[in-house]
Amino acid sequence: MRILTGLQPSGKLHVGNYFGAIKPAVELQQQGEGFYFIADYHAMTSGRDAAALKANIRELAIDFLACGLDPEKSVFFRQSAVPEVNELAWILSTVCPMPLLAKCHSYKDKVAQGISPNHALFAYPVLMAADILLYDSEKVPVGKDQKQHLEVTRSLATKLNEAYGEGTVVMPEAIIKEETELVIGLDGRKMSKSYDNTLPIFGEEKQLRKWVMKIVTDSTPVEDPKSTENSTIIALYKLFANEAELGSMIADHQRGGCGYGDFKKRLADAYWDYFSEMRTRREEILKDTGYVDQVLKDGANRAREEAAKVLSRIRQAVGLA
Ligand code: ADP
Ligand code: TRP
Repeated sequence: MRILTGLQPSGKLHVGNYFGAIKPAVELQQQGEGFYFIADYHAMTSGRDAAALKANIRELAIDFLACGLDPEKSVFFRQSAVPEVNELAWILSTVCPMPLLAKCHSYKDKVAQGISPNHALFAYPVLMAADILLYDSEKVPVGKDQKQHLEVTRSLATKLNEAYGEGTVVMPEAIIKEETELVIGLDGRKMSKSYDNTLPIFGEEKQLRKWVMKIVTDSTPVEDPKSTENSTIIALYKLFANEAELGSMIADHQRGGCGYGDFKKRLADAYWDYFSEMRTRREEILKDTGYVDQVLKDGANRAREEAAKVLSRIRQAVGLA
């Protein structure tokens, strides 16, 4: 089974990225061949700082490896190391109706946030479809916000197969885990860099604990029972705590007598412990200069080999070869 996912190098990884995309990708390494990449072309649709892009690519590579991506099992590469993806994006764009792209939420959201509506932002899902179809991917683990992009991919795959024959491209499927499909952020909205409400995975302890203290709560007095519904603290604690710990957190909410400060401290402890092994691994990677570059170089070679095979099949099907 071929599993593929991409992450944009657009800032520090957060808990939403981890549970929505990274953890499922790491777990799926046991079940098939993972193709995991850094979507650097995509990141260019929302920023123009070359130095920042370069630094973010490196940081994402280190963090993804620290989170358990195993380069012995999976192919790890940079999207731009396989420029053939642009050719497939072009081929797919010839079967892509404009209205299919115009209705994409992610495009509309980004424009609403003030990002200039350039062509790349509009065509973003076509490049994403090319990422997926170029490697004959079967399973694509992503968070819920990418669901529509996967639908676009499937729609373009169908159109290409209808136009040029079944089997021109392989039909992929999204894997969206229900329990972590939407991790909420410090303010109760979806956790996202664009809302500035994230808990980063890596960082300095004091700062990470400070973020937890920023969680928005109501003004129920310490001695009163507290609502467990719509509680950001509980929703996040669920991700890190075991059943017994979660049970006592819920019971303490219902009983009253504990303040939000105490609950936040418990959450901060659980959050800090959860990523402890990954932090250690990250330190090791940082010491091993050259390791990350070597992994990405090997990954690019392997990815390019696979891409060449698939692209040659598609070129033949469409009449370019
Ligand atoms: P952000 O919204 O912070 O910019 P990205 O769009 O770069 O995050 O998302 C990278 C990956 O992480 C995607 O697969 C996305 O679905 C997943 N993801 C991001 N935020 C969340 C979240 N709050 N809950 C679950 N998955 C998420
Ligand atoms: N659009 C994805 C995101 O913002 C990143 C991405 C690019 C991707 N290409 C992909 C994800 C292919 C899965 C498959 O998170």
